[in-house]
Amino acid sequence: MASGIEIEGIVFDAGSMPHGSVIGQDGNASDARERTVSAELQEDDLAFDRSLRPKYLKDYLGQEKIKESLAILIQAAQARGEAADHILFSGPPGLGKTTLATVVANEMGANIKTTSGPAIERTGDLAAILTNLEEGDVLFIDEIHRMNRMVEEVLYPALEDYALDIVVGKGPAARSIRLDLPHFTLIGATTRTGLLTGPLRDRFGIAFRLQYYNPDELAAIVRRSASILDVQISEDGALEIARRSRGTPRLANRLLKRVRDWAQVRGDGMITEDVAAEALSFFEVDSLGLDAMDNRILEMLAVQFSGRPVGLTTMASALSEDPDTIEDVYEPFLMQQGLVVRTPKGRQATARAYEHLGLVPPEGV
Ligand SMILES: Nc1ncnc2c1ncn2[C@@H]1O[C@H](COP(=O)(O)OP(=O)(O)OP(=O)(O)O)[C@@H](O)[C@H]1O
Ligand SMILES: [Mg+2]
Repeated sequence: MASGIEIEGIVFDAGSMPHGSVIGQDGNASDARERTVSAELQEDDLAFDRSLRPKYLKDYLGQEKIKESLAILIQAAQARGEAADHILFSGPPGLGKTTLATVVANEMGANIKTTSGPAIERTGDLAAILTNLEEGDVLFIDEIHRMNRMVEEVLYPALEDYALDIVVGKGPAARSIRLDLPHFTLIGATTRTGLLTGPLRDRFGIAFRLQYYNPDELAAIVRRSASILDVQISEDGALEIARRSRGTPRLANRLLKRVRDWAQVRGDGMITEDVAAEALSFFEVDSLGLDAMDNRILEMLAVQFSGRPVGLTTMASALSEDPDTIEDVYEPFLMQQGLVVRTPKGRQATARAYEHLGLVPPEGV
């Protein structure tokens, strides 16, 4: 297998690495799109997100099963004095994958170095990152499904044997040398497990799929954030925001911020159930937390296509939206809520979607 790295001079010069722990573009960067209230990350929200990000497992609310497994994994690794197994987190945007990666590093008392699949353009970039790691470090690769194949092949021996194979010289004089790497833990995050290659997926010791949060869990997250932000909120107020947050903590925090502003300007600053409901209607977040784009999708399926199955590419062009974004960002929650079903022939609006739109479903839906 040609997994070596051509080095002319020293391509993987660690000295050329950016300072600090963030390598290349910010690990969270994703193609942020305009959305009334998006679960996707927008640049100006980075600092806000970070300020509310739990640092340890005890502050990370929900995902109980995952937390329990992680606690065991971390404790066992620490008892053996070894780096923990490589971990993969998958799930829709804003559910806490990046947060969990930092939580794992904090719990292990390890340094975390952050990069993302698209930021590692050449094999030399990855070699530089790997040779710059220290024993026990956590390497976090966000959007790991977007890493290029050549780079990915260099990662395989690093994950399996903590080794880096490099090819020195060219032509008949070329020879391969193997460098030892420190024992590190790779944490990968992806919104699309389906796009991960088999060999890469197999090299993770453990993989977790994050689930949408229930309203009680989200209400607890809202209360925690409100106390950090010093915002007065009632239990009902927190639950009202939680119910409309599409199962997503990032969205819950974002809505809290909007409602806080509204309560400050239109009320006395206190967030009650009524205040939250009124503010959220004002911001066009409906009772299920669907925003204008979600409703456009439902209307398109229900009205424009009269409940017939619609293919993803047709949907994408009808909505002038990228198919990947529809599949990763919008669809999972609409399906989880039973508003849209995926059939072999395409996507269809359900009876519940008609009900939500205040329409009567046609025969057979
Ligand atoms: N379990 C949780 N408890 C409390 N807050 C949470 C939890 N999960 C996520 N959050 C909050 O939601 C924000 C978004 O989480 P995070 O950035 O980890 O999502 P992500 O899954 O990495 O999203 P993306 O796919 O867009 O990168 C965090 O900054 C944090 O404030
Ligand atoms: Mg992330």
